[in-house]
Amino acid sequence: MQPDEMSASSMFDVVKNGKIGTAMDGFSYLLNDQEITAVVKFVMSEFIEKKQTNTYYHIEENGWGGHERYAAAFPFALGEISLDTPWNLLTEEQSIGKRLFMSACVTCHDRAHVDKKEIKWRSRSVSYPRGKYSHKEDPVDAISGASPFSAHDRSPLISGLTKKESQGQKLFIENCAFCHGGDGKGANWIGSFLESRPRDLTSDGIKSVSDLVLLNMIRGGVPNTTMPAWKSVLTDEQIEALTAYIRRAFH
Ligand code: HEC
Ligand code: HEC
Repeated sequence: MQPDEMSASSMFDVVKNGKIGTAMDGFSYLLNDQEITAVVKFVMSEFIEKKQTNTYYHIEENGWGGHERYAAAFPFALGEISLDTPWNLLTEEQSIGKRLFMSACVTCHDRAHVDKKEIKWRSRSVSYPRGKYSHKEDPVDAISGASPFSAHDRSPLISGLTKKESQGQKLFIENCAFCHGGDGKGANWIGSFLESRPRDLTSDGIKSVSDLVLLNMIRGGVPNTTMPAWKSVLTDEQIEALTAYIRRAFH
């Protein structure tokens, strides 16, 4: 069903009770009918009727009046021009934009598009160094080291994964890392905001359970939390591959 064909009452039903056969869980445990009605009303009016980009961030109310004056930096914020495009390939306007981006935007837009992942375009910190940033590292990881969260987004580098494990790795990155972090610890950006927090998959508690128990944890999810029941989304074979990867990568 297209969103604009959706009536307020069917949306109410999905938000309240979830949708069987998908990862959409019901919210009746968290929100009362009045609150669900308010959410549905907002979604209908904001996204379906007014078609507003209400998530637009750089607006007057957020302290970004006249954001258009930074237009030269937009292509870098939007990933249209790679940040590691050599200076000599940039027009004058684009060079101004890149300089502006590096000085005023990169602190928040710190995951700008790059062509060559392995090349760090600067060896000094471009934003305030936080977390475990170290000036002594060689080469200095000035980009991901600048955010305490993004370190957790990186998956461990493991060589010699079996076919099953690498299938699991791909599934993990696509479906689980968003909440549990690439390193499985749940200490990534999104994970830190979830209540309850995503389980630390490297913990002894998870390490000590049998494969079958782990498999069933993933199949069944955890009711009344954001942990979905994956049996509705992934096949048993895929969940087995995930289990194999979790064992190999985190245990
Ligand atoms: C304080 C954090 C912060 C800073 C600094 C910042 N941005 Fe953003 N920017 C955001 C957020 C948050 C969004 C919305 C992201 C989303 O919706 O996915 C955004 C979105 C954008 C977008 C997409 C359109 C939009 O508004 O949703 C553009 C273009 C953009 N920023 C350009 C810039 C430029 C150019 C600079 C530097 C002059 C900059 N930003 C600095 C946080 C920031
Ligand atoms: C939307 C966020 C989210 C996603 C996506 C997600 N999880 Fe979770 N997961 C959680 C949360 C939150 C918990 C902790 C729930 C609780 O309070 O016990 C959890 C718990 C778990 C547990 C422990 C379950 C238990 O019974 O104790 C395992 C194992 C797990 N997740 C594996 C996975 C795997 C594998 C995937 C990907 C297929 C995944 N998770 C995707 C949020 C998520």
